[in-house]
Amino acid sequence: MPAVYRIRDLDKTHRSEGGAFRLRVPLLNVEAGEKIALVGPSGCGKSTLLDILALVLRPSAAERFDFRPRSGGIDIAGTWEIDQQNHLSEMRSRHIGYVLQTGGLLPYISAADNIALSLRLLGLDPGARVAQLGSELGIGDQLRKLPGMLSAGQRQRVAIARALAHKPAIVLADEPTSSLDPVTARKVMEMFMSLVDDNGVTLILATHDWPAVERFGLRALHFETGQADDGTVEGVFRD
Ligand SMILES: Nc1ncnc2c1ncn2[C@@H]1O[C@H](COP(=O)(O)OP(=O)(O)O)[C@@H](O)[C@H]1O
Ligand SMILES: [Mg+2]
Repeated sequence: MPAVYRIRDLDKTHRSEGGAFRLRVPLLNVEAGEKIALVGPSGCGKSTLLDILALVLRPSAAERFDFRPRSGGIDIAGTWEIDQQNHLSEMRSRHIGYVLQTGGLLPYISAADNIALSLRLLGLDPGARVAQLGSELGIGDQLRKLPGMLSAGQRQRVAIARALAHKPAIVLADEPTSSLDPVTARKVMEMFMSLVDDNGVTLILATHDWPAVERFGLRALHFETGQADDGTVEGVFRD
């Protein structure tokens, strides 16, 4: 199996008034088709790592950061180095789908238009894809509504449909069901995982839902938190 991500000695430091936080990733290899869970408490760096994997956030340093979504690969560390933002954003919109914690939907366009967004960005005709995903996620009759008229669970299903619409090779999801009640969360998670299986995508999911990790057979990525000598809080992910 080819590796989608190959990362060695990557780190990202966030500085704020309250002090500094450093994410460290000594080694991370993600093979095509793997389903991975980043499990850890709030503040350990899950969203930071997802943003880096989504090519949204630039690492402070990386010995190696290769991304090979399908055939052909790209040296992300080097591409950030020469600041080719347009190349990164084109890789992102073509190959990656990202489900944010609370949807991140555009409030002034319909659910259907939100789902079609990732396709239109690529100049593709949404065709029947939007209706098909809507029906697979049980929101076929909600697609004309604005996000504000939907329940939290329905909004997350729209966010999931949007992340999958353009058939990306990789789907990243940041605690996609944490804002839902347990029953809805379970239902939405089941639909999400079944779409992930049907579409054969590589999944990287941040969660603190251990039972879901086991139920869906995800590979959990271990992490440790600690404090460096200078007081910097560290989150270290281990493969
Ligand atoms: N843009 C930012 N600026 C400063 N600090 C940040 C920023 N983003 C995150 N942090 C800090 O980095 C740490 C890890 O955050 P995050 O990646 O969001 O963790 P998690 O998703 O696991 O809750 C936290 O201490 C957070 O406050
Ligand atoms: Mg987070």
